[in-house]
Amino acid sequence: MTDENTVREESDGPLDFFETMTEKLGSRRKFMGDAAKVGAGAVALSAVGAGTASAFHESSDVDILNYALTLEHLEATYYAEFLDEHSESDVEGSAVAQYFARPTLRYSLYQQIEDVADHEAQHVDALSQTISDLGGTPVEAAEYTFPYDSMEEFVALSDRIEAVGVSAYAGAAPYIENQDVLAAALSIHSVEANHSTFFNVLNLQRAAPNAFNPARNKDQVLGIVTPLIDS
Ligand SMILES: [Fe+2]
Ligand SMILES: [Fe+2]
Repeated sequence: MTDENTVREESDGPLDFFETMTEKLGSRRKFMGDAAKVGAGAVALSAVGAGTASAFHESSDVDILNYALTLEHLEATYYAEFLDEHSESDVEGSAVAQYFARPTLRYSLYQQIEDVADHEAQHVDALSQTISDLGGTPVEAAEYTFPYDSMEEFVALSDRIEAVGVSAYAGAAPYIENQDVLAAALSIHSVEANHSTFFNVLNLQRAAPNAFNPARNKDQVLGIVTPLIDS
C-alpha cells in the first residue's frame, strides 16, 4: 500500500476534489451560471448565524442543528439516490466490490452502503425531531446533483462528502450550548467518522491517515458542498 494512490492528499484534498467535480458539473450542466438555482440550498446553510457565515458564536443551537440537518439531508438523499439507481448485482459485480472478496466480506458491500444510507436517514429524523423539540423549524431537503458515473467515482465522492461532514460537526460542536444536544451531535460525529473510514478504504486511501482531522467553519463547508446543491 505504498503507491501514490494509497497516499491521502493533504487536508485540502477534498477541496481540490470538489473543484474538479465542480468543473465536471459545470461542463455537464450550466448550474454555476444560474445563481437562482444555487440559491436555496446555500441560503439554508447560510441561515446559521446572523453575522458572517462562519460566526457560529452568534448562532442558536437550533441554527446549528439546522446547519447539521442541511448536510444530513444531502447525505441521506445522496445514498438513497445511489441505492435507487444501482441494483445489488451492479454493486457486487463492480471492481470496487472485489475488496470484499474475502469469504467473510463477500457480497457485503451493498449491505454496508445500505447501512450508511440508513444512518443518514436516521440522522435526518433525529435532527429534525430535536429542532422541533427546541421550538425551531427543521429545514427541508434541497435538490442536489451528485457527479459520479461509476462505482469508483461514487466511492471517491462518498469519501469526500463524509470527510466534509466529519469536519463540519467538529467545527460546529464547540458552539452548541445545550449539553444534551452536544452529546447527540458528538454521537453522530463519530458515526460520520466511521463512514469516512469505510469510504477511505473503498477509495484505496489509507483508512485513518491523520491523528487530528481538520475542523471546518461554515464558510469552508459551504465552499465545498454548495456545488452539489441545485436549489
Ligand atoms: Fe449523517
Ligand atoms: Fe455520513
